[in-house]
Amino acid sequence: MTRDILIIGGGVMGLAIAVELKLRGAKVTVLCRDFQAAASHAAAGMLAPDAEKITDTAMKSLCWRSRSLYPDWTAKLEELTGLNTGYWACGILAPVDQQSGSREAEAQGNKEDSPAYWLDQTAIHQYQPGLGAEVVGGWWYPEDAQVDNRALVRVLWSAAESLGVELKDGITVEALLQRQGQVVGVQTNTGVIRAEHYVLATGAWANDLLPLPVQPRKGQMLSVRVPESVTELPLKRVLFGDNIYIVPRRNRSIIIGATSEDVGFTPHNTPAGIQTLLQGAIRLYPQLQHYPIEQFWWGYRPATPDELPILGASHCSNLTLATGHYRNGILLAPITAALIADFIWEQKSDPLLSHFHYSRCQQQPSTSPMFTHSANFSNGHSQLTPVLTSHSPLPIPDSPLTIAGKSFHSRLMTGTGKYRSIDEMQQSVEASGCQIVTVAVRRVQTKAPGHESLAEALDWSKIWMLPNTAGCQTAEEAIRVARLGREMAKLLGQEDNNFVKLEVIPDQKYLLPDPIGTLQAAEQLVKEGFAVLPYINADPMLAKRLEEVGCATVMPLAAPIGSGQGLKTLANIQIIIENANVPVVVDAGIGAPSEASQAMELGADALLINSAIALAQNPAAMAAAMNLATVAGRLAYLAGRMPIKSYASASSPLTGTISS
Ligand code: GLY
Repeated sequence: MTRDILIIGGGVMGLAIAVELKLRGAKVTVLCRDFQAAASHAAAGMLAPDAEKITDTAMKSLCWRSRSLYPDWTAKLEELTGLNTGYWACGILAPVDQQSGSREAEAQGNKEDSPAYWLDQTAIHQYQPGLGAEVVGGWWYPEDAQVDNRALVRVLWSAAESLGVELKDGITVEALLQRQGQVVGVQTNTGVIRAEHYVLATGAWANDLLPLPVQPRKGQMLSVRVPESVTELPLKRVLFGDNIYIVPRRNRSIIIGATSEDVGFTPHNTPAGIQTLLQGAIRLYPQLQHYPIEQFWWGYRPATPDELPILGASHCSNLTLATGHYRNGILLAPITAALIADFIWEQKSDPLLSHFHYSRCQQQPSTSPMFTHSANFSNGHSQLTPVLTSHSPLPIPDSPLTIAGKSFHSRLMTGTGKYRSIDEMQQSVEASGCQIVTVAVRRVQTKAPGHESLAEALDWSKIWMLPNTAGCQTAEEAIRVARLGREMAKLLGQEDNNFVKLEVIPDQKYLLPDPIGTLQAAEQLVKEGFAVLPYINADPMLAKRLEEVGCATVMPLAAPIGSGQGLKTLANIQIIIENANVPVVVDAGIGAPSEASQAMELGADALLINSAIALAQNPAAMAAAMNLATVAGRLAYLAGRMPIKSYASASSPLTGTISS
């Protein structure tokens, strides 16, 4: 049974799941980047599946179940902590004005299973005095409710703390470290943290760690205060109008929300946003115009394309997803916590979870083919050839290749050397789908063949240059050439390019790198602010030392440069992959796509292939093949290969088959 669980995200969802799992006996850690930034603080706390007019059947059911858990769930938390959550079964009144649709249209949105009552003009004004003159009727949803969301997250935090959940605030998770269909750790700003199981509950920021279609949808809000001169609370239920809601708290605060803006993570309140809210609120409940303003704020709802959450299994067997709750995060916290805890702790998957599986958001290969048109690489004949590019959607979500904070979709790097012509080089780079091309600084300086017009030969606004120190025999030379490489990148318009592929190669016959010179040069270049990608023999100890001095990757060779001998150093590369916390780029020696694929299958993060492409009879076709092989190998690695067995195992087992 899974015991040690790491939850990424310290908002209402992460905390609710943490408390639930802890109560069931798990060891739980929560990593929180910034407790105050969570959408949970920005929300209004409405528990409003009816007023929100949710139409998706499974979603409605999820929301209703969650709303019905609220009384007991908050009571339990309050008992644990002695604190108040502000849960209030106050009901929600949804006034309708002349402009907003007919009564029939409204009625269609409501189903018998959650009660809703129509109040005509007289009834609604009697029931709720003080409504705007334009209100002609409205719906009363007695089962909708509210909770003081800010109090709730404080209570959850305190409950988690008192139960012994390890809460770490101020920790940024930078990457999920994945190996063979498993998460093996999370890279944070304070180092790697490991657990047996992981939960991703990072709301609008989910996309930073996995390619999930979660986008921020900004909401601006404000609150006013009922003046002390007004003795009795004028509002004792939520008012839910057209694009406006008014949520009265028992402590005399009244929350007014919320805009819904597709502006990414653009912070701050704006005059336009606040004006819209104030106009809408005053129209609905005019006496608010005299109340003192308390506070303005904003937050980011985690929106998915179908506005439904992403819950349950992920592409990694030990990673569970709980994100994308959009407008209903506070409402859905108790049911999400219960279903996710059942899923992780009891291996019990509620039938509802399948509706919220992440795969619904992936483009299906059948409807959106993984084949895209790429450059023509046939010999002179103009035609578009279908090529799988690494930009195509994969049936498994994958994180980008991230080197020194810069992300790349392609995991194949190429070079510019050894081509028979500039044309061939250009076509090959294009066909390879690569985003990083390494360039020998010395060859550019000496205008070696093929390097005279490199500035114009490739589109450096799309391709990231990786200057290399090929031809340097000592650490000192390599350091000097690396500095020139940085200038070269600047001249090509890559002002922020601090990358260098470090090669220190004294021996000309085998072109084997000098480990001591490489380590010395790496130390110095890291100090000078370079992102160092050292080319090394496949030596696991050296790889570790280079990582420790701050190198951005390690680039072990598979066989001598340009030899095309394939994966000669495989066993050591495997050890390097197993131990590395930086990307492992297999460089040199790969001669055929099958070898490229094999290296990726084993978990290499990327490949650098030059000679095998440049010296092929048709370099562009080989570049495309290497691209396919890299993507295939990566996909296989993420999918996790079947275990190797000593004996045959029938494809159609006899148990459970029909026998005559
Ligand atoms: N749940 C209300 C909102 O997201 O604005």
